[in-house]
Amino acid sequence: MNNFKILSGNASKQLLNEICDYLSIKPIEHIVDKFSDGEIRVQILESIRGDDVFIIQSTNPPSDNLMELLLIIDAVKRASANNITAVIPYFGYARQDRKDAPRVPISAKLVSDLIQVAGANRVLTVDLHAEQIQGFFNIPVDNLYAIPIFKEYILKHYGNLNSDEFIVVSPDVGGTRRARLFAKKLGELPIALIDKRRPSPNHAEVMNVIGDVKNKIAIIVDDIIDTGRTIALASKALIEKGCKEVIVFATHGLFSSNAKEILENAEIKEIIITNTIEGNEARIPRNAKKISIAPLIAQAIKRIHNSESVSSLFI
Ligand code: R5P
Repeated sequence: MNNFKILSGNASKQLLNEICDYLSIKPIEHIVDKFSDGEIRVQILESIRGDDVFIIQSTNPPSDNLMELLLIIDAVKRASANNITAVIPYFGYARQDRKDAPRVPISAKLVSDLIQVAGANRVLTVDLHAEQIQGFFNIPVDNLYAIPIFKEYILKHYGNLNSDEFIVVSPDVGGTRRARLFAKKLGELPIALIDKRRPSPNHAEVMNVIGDVKNKIAIIVDDIIDTGRTIALASKALIEKGCKEVIVFATHGLFSSNAKEILENAEIKEIIITNTIEGNEARIPRNAKKISIAPLIAQAIKRIHNSESVSSLFI
């Protein structure tokens, strides 16, 4: 069987080290830095001919992260790797997945095209904003959920959850499937939905809470926290409807704009995010905690390399 080897761009350096530790391997020796004019410079410093190569790189802003991923794929392809898997823990531009206004791009489709043209044979990602984005690719896409990692955290810190006390909440209708899966995984908990409206980009408004949340502890589950407004508004609405406490689980913590301030002032006991996004430490609110997604990605990498099913890792 071919060897499997791993490297990353600068967006996912810590995650690369954690995944390598988990798998007891060393990353491929490589350089990803800049020429003096600011252009990205990539070089693979060892032979990877015939190897299965996994490139770990989230594509959150700045766009240099996406560019690094594309250039690394190109370098790996030209170094005659056997299979190239783009492991994209946070798939940026995923929220621009349709033409919902005149004269706008479908950015998620363009990004998918770029990754394929660069030479990736497969994509592995986590909590893709919309699962349909898999269809923008003509190569296999495995979309893992952070749910098993969140469940582990809950069992460790809260024990088994009682369905009379806890309720899983989706902060918008689009997240219903995720909330349903999480509720099932936590022992058939009830679910509630927030009817959210977005009158303009980055401005969420809560319309209604659907479900009986009175006297319950709400577990909000979402894919992304960006400006923090969705979560802050959802928790306010839940407390107003009689919830005792709100806990949040979100896979990707972007924390842009004044998210830190908004979330620190929200009535939220704790916010759990994963380490799909790095370099955001200064923006993370005091009531938030980062947990590692590395074990999940490491297991998926191993299974992909061994041509084993990864679907059991999905939830
Ligand atoms: C929206 O559909 C997503 O699932 C998130 O709820 C959203 O991107 C969060 O954005 P923000 O934190 O800016 O409200």
